[in-house]
Amino acid sequence: MNTSSTYRNKDDADGTADRDILVWDAPVRLFHWLFAACFAGAWLTAESEHWRLVHVTLGYTAGGLVIFRLVWGLVGTKYARFSSFVRGPARVWRYVLGLLRGHPRRHIGHNPAGGVVIVAMLALACALTITGWATYNDAGGTWLGELHESVANLLLALVGVHVAGVAVSSWLHRENLIGAMVSGRKAGQPDEGVQRAWRSVAALMLVVVLAFWWWQWHGAPALPLSGQDPVQQPDHNASDD
Ligand code: HEM
Ligand code: HEM
Repeated sequence: MNTSSTYRNKDDADGTADRDILVWDAPVRLFHWLFAACFAGAWLTAESEHWRLVHVTLGYTAGGLVIFRLVWGLVGTKYARFSSFVRGPARVWRYVLGLLRGHPRRHIGHNPAGGVVIVAMLALACALTITGWATYNDAGGTWLGELHESVANLLLALVGVHVAGVAVSSWLHRENLIGAMVSGRKAGQPDEGVQRAWRSVAALMLVVVLAFWWWQWHGAPALPLSGQDPVQQPDHNASDD
């Protein structure tokens, strides 16, 4: 049995009672809420040319966060690792059957079906960044913009499945999963917990994101008055004589 992702029920064989244990390290939690916020922000600013730079900035941020998450999925803490929640079709199917019967097996980390949705969301976010970049840089025809929009719609649908899955799991297991993504903590056996929260890595992630936003803001052209061309930025390198 893979103890890294499964859960032993309350009165465990060795009689140890459940405690409050750390499951999601700080980088996973910060990644999650920043990623969700960037997705929402990019979605809300997608249609208007006026908000294009904000859209692009949030889109690139989401793309950068995904790259970080892919690395953290290889070197991060126990439940952050892909090896702890990416499962083959048989395991996923068994979990879904349990879900349909109303008593899915509880997992300390992501459950196998949630794992599939998470991997699909990360893959679509990569595709979204690449198609967005290509559209923004006129690397193809209008079809690229349409492809970008279709990928965004697909990701939105998956987010719907994801949030519904979180709500259903929370209800079936009588467990506040949203709170766990905030505090990082769940009920479990003491030896199942993660030892370090890695707040330093999360702090570094936040600094890099804020620095990127500041840099984008600083380099942005002044807002045009309606109907006029963007105001030219002064050329700081030009000499007066
Ligand atoms: C209000 C909205 C949301 C809530 C309440 C929520 C909640 C959660 C929870 C509870 C988990 C952990 C699931 C588990 O216990 O296995 C999770 C994971 C995840 N969610 Fe969300 N989520 C929301 C929005 C989003 C959005 C908008 C996205 C993507 C654009 C997203 C992407 C992810 C990803 C990628 C993970 C995996 C985290 C990781 O392992 O790094 N979520 N979410
Ligand atoms: C979380 C990431 C992103 C989401 C959810 C997203 C979503 C969308 C959506 C829904 C549209 C269609 C708007 C419409 O016309 O109705 C759109 C358009 C666009 N996006 Fe994104 N996008 C993301 C990332 C990016 C990135 C990283 C870039 C560029 C670097 C980008 C550049 C563009 C451009 C240039 C358009 C206009 C396309 C056109 O009019 O043909 N997007 N985006």
